[in-house]
Amino acid sequence: MRFGSVPLRLFLGATFLYAGIQKLTDSGFLTASRSTYIGKQLTGYGLRSPIGGLLGWLGQNFAVEVGVLIILVELAIGAGILLGIWTRGLAVLGALLSVVLFLSATWDVQPYFLGSDSIYAVAWITLALIGDRGVWVPGQRLLRPAEDRRRPIVDPARREFLLRLGAAGVGAIWLLALLPRSRPAAASLPASPTTTPTTPQPSVAPGPPTPSGPPGAATPTAAAPAGTRIGTLAAVQSAGSLAYQDPASGDPAVVVSLGGQSVVAYDAVCTHAGCTVEYDPSQRLLICPCHGAAFDPAHSAQVIAGPAPTPLPGLRVTVTSDGTIYTA
Ligand code: FES
Repeated sequence: MRFGSVPLRLFLGATFLYAGIQKLTDSGFLTASRSTYIGKQLTGYGLRSPIGGLLGWLGQNFAVEVGVLIILVELAIGAGILLGIWTRGLAVLGALLSVVLFLSATWDVQPYFLGSDSIYAVAWITLALIGDRGVWVPGQRLLRPAEDRRRPIVDPARREFLLRLGAAGVGAIWLLALLPRSRPAAASLPASPTTTPTTPQPSVAPGPPTPSGPPGAATPTAAAPAGTRIGTLAAVQSAGSLAYQDPASGDPAVVVSLGGQSVVAYDAVCTHAGCTVEYDPSQRLLICPCHGAAFDPAHSAQVIAGPAPTPLPGLRVTVTSDGTIYTA
């Protein structure tokens, strides 16, 4: 079984190296205006994570520093594990990083076995326990003399202690994975959108407000809108979208222009793991910065890419005849 850890090292090392390179070559990862910006990811994870306060604070104040650190750590772990340099130490670092990702990026993925970070953490703990056993360690050969490499890294008593520690770590991860999650408020909303383009009639002034809704449901109401003012139709048309907070759920939400005077509104909490989606006018899609889910606002926010299981819940908004948009 001397070679037992080689497949694990190859997969984990290559995966972390790839993850680091992927972030390094993503021009949006460190750019605040882009949808894959690390600050948006941290803030998005923070909405549902048990360490959300810390993530939100880092996302607001040290996003670029955290992004650079993640890139460097992933590259170092990936390269070191593949070359057999400080295997156990880097495996511990990989386990810690995976636990942080488990508590943030995939905390809301249920059941837990559909999320990858918990099993990554367990795999890293396993590698930390068994080490590389001196097999296929080109980097180690350069850094350490042969006698030193042959020396056992841990004595039996210490090995026993580390085995117990590793088992406790795996048990803790499993228990955390089974903990009931407070479901996102958006999940209680209907999975199928209730909002369709609405056609206000600004040329008729002054006139009654027109609520958005399914075809045939947009009947004028004589009453003034009771909801919260979101913004103006002109602003949505100009920017392509307008973010707001849904007063009913407290969730982030977004109004999207479909061209002309048609708008749709959706809850902006990604149905995968709770990050906040943003509208990308160049693609005309709502994009999740965390794992790349893409929703088509023109077609009931159907999922067209990524791991999100369901469309974004639709929200009703009211567009008045003077072009002001209100929550319904
Ligand atoms: Fe994972 Fe949105 S949170 S794709």
